[in-house]
Amino acid sequence: MATFVTDDDLFAMRMDRSADDLWPWLERLYGDHPGFDAFVAELRSALADAWGARSGRLKRRDLERDLQPDWFQRPGMCGYVFYVDLFAGDLRGVVDRLDYLVDLGITYVHLMPCLMPRDGDADGGYSVRDYRRVDPRLGTMDDLEAVIEACHDRGIVVCLDMVLNHTAREHDWAVRAREGQDAYADFYHTFPDRTDPDRWEATLDEVFPDTAPGNFTWCPVMERWVWTTFNAHQWDLNWSNPQVFLEMARVMLFLANRGVDVLRFDAVAFLWKRLGTRCQSEPEVHMILHALRAVGRIATPATIHLEEAIVGPAEMLTYLGQGAHAGREGNLAYHNSLMVQIWSAMATRDAGLMTHVLDTHFPVALPNATYATYLRCHDDIGWAVTDEDASAVGLGGAAHRAFLSDFYDGTFPGSFARGALFQENPATGDKRISGTTASLAGLERALAEGDADAIDQAVHRIVMGHAIIASFGGIPLIYMGDELALTNDYDYRDDPTKAHDSRWLHRPAMVWDAAVAVGSGGNGPAARVFAGIRHLIARRAATRELDGSVPCVILHPPDAALFAFKRDAPTGPLICLFNVADGWRGVSTEWLSANGVTAFHDALSDGAVAHADGHVHLPPQARIWLR
Ligand code: GLC
Ligand code: GLC
Repeated sequence: MATFVTDDDLFAMRMDRSADDLWPWLERLYGDHPGFDAFVAELRSALADAWGARSGRLKRRDLERDLQPDWFQRPGMCGYVFYVDLFAGDLRGVVDRLDYLVDLGITYVHLMPCLMPRDGDADGGYSVRDYRRVDPRLGTMDDLEAVIEACHDRGIVVCLDMVLNHTAREHDWAVRAREGQDAYADFYHTFPDRTDPDRWEATLDEVFPDTAPGNFTWCPVMERWVWTTFNAHQWDLNWSNPQVFLEMARVMLFLANRGVDVLRFDAVAFLWKRLGTRCQSEPEVHMILHALRAVGRIATPATIHLEEAIVGPAEMLTYLGQGAHAGREGNLAYHNSLMVQIWSAMATRDAGLMTHVLDTHFPVALPNATYATYLRCHDDIGWAVTDEDASAVGLGGAAHRAFLSDFYDGTFPGSFARGALFQENPATGDKRISGTTASLAGLERALAEGDADAIDQAVHRIVMGHAIIASFGGIPLIYMGDELALTNDYDYRDDPTKAHDSRWLHRPAMVWDAAVAVGSGGNGPAARVFAGIRHLIARRAATRELDGSVPCVILHPPDAALFAFKRDAPTGPLICLFNVADGWRGVSTEWLSANGVTAFHDALSDGAVAHADGHVHLPPQARIWLR
């Protein structure tokens, strides 16, 4: 059969298709730079080289995804997030554990940072020394590629971190900058004295006020202050330098050519600095992300981008593309607000604030993008509730945020939770929270107290939380061990490289004995949580209304203990209903029919829902998906 399109044609077509998403943005970002033309030429050859180096297998995947651009929206997508060492020892070990994930229904894995980190404390791997090498403790690049291939063989896609905002101070670029090599002087933001840093500090937040106060670190070798938003060893890259864009684009293409399906762009809000602002989510950040997506679309189109911007509701949406960037920025972004609101509703047993926030700030549908939904992750929970939103439902912002911290560190009288504070900031009153899903949801305390009712409620809370993230829209991400209801791990306090960072509380090692035990059934809390989560992943996959592209309309049930939304599918709506209270609640069949429910079929249990006296009666922590 004659070939009707050559490899070169295909590349030219891809280049053509995305040209408007690339060059004009680069022109705006870097056009005034003296080396702009050379930069453009270098980027062009980086793209051509990456295409040339791309395997036939991946080019086939590119075509598959051209034909199915909504592949990541499918209800069959369900993610699992783990540290390679804590899950399976090393990369080879991961391959042996894939059957467990397949059995659970997982089709997406996020391998937490596995590129070469600095020695010692490396912020869980987010302080990268070399983006082209794998952490030798975990294996080699070949091992990583073998894991990716093994995942692909099982229908699992792979997500990998790419830290855009900073490198480790041990990264080669930083080493060269310290040696005084001219070409690297502008890779980072450095200052001869405190004059500028003090001016910038006036409007900057502090991410780690407790352990890494301030945003600048003195470098005795250079005798300059270096911009370090996060830890002192994490040097912020200077994205106003086109060479930084070029080098990071090369890294991105390199990783995509290893077969990575999803690149998780870490801490993207901080990429662009503008004096007099918080230096978060500046317009140029979106231009950079738009351009990076175009770079990927041209040479490595099968790979999509997940933006990590843990910011307030309105700001978060911008990472999925708004205005000129609509449909052309992140394919996925973390739904931080949904996560925060689930925990807020569970603490107050009231979904009023949640309903208000999700209805007010989020559109019912997004062009060409969706959310990564989650209940817990490897990071702390920051109470991103604005004063305006709190007051709209009669709460005080500061008081509610303080309540949530007290509730989840367990000190609030009657709290079911056990967690720990993270980065308490007396200056702002901000207190973030660490703890595993199970411990925050009440299981650790209930087990310690031997309280059977409380254990039961904790189990239901955990499953309800997962039922929300599985039906809201987007790819639900399950954090390793949550499916086994693993409780807090206090051992990190004995490790000097971890003791200062309470996020290690909720990063326990996988307990494979527990996994084996739940596999053989049983009635303990771990077995019930596992069965509940496994069941809901399977039901999600079978429920076409849960496709990410189906609009999600927030409803206002008459009872504030209920959280409800409608997945408005062309084939008819699915009403997802959750009872966040500790007691039974009812919802009238009249209200349900007014919202399109005709059959009283629960897609989650795949059974009929009983209704009596004109009401559907919902037990505590109920979750139903009604057709
Ligand atoms: C991201 C990571 C977090 C890390 C930070 C700095 O937010 O999720 O763990 O501390 O970036 O890289
Ligand atoms: C802040 C950052 C976020 C990071 C987190 C780590 O929330 O915005 O990027 O994950 O701190 O604790």
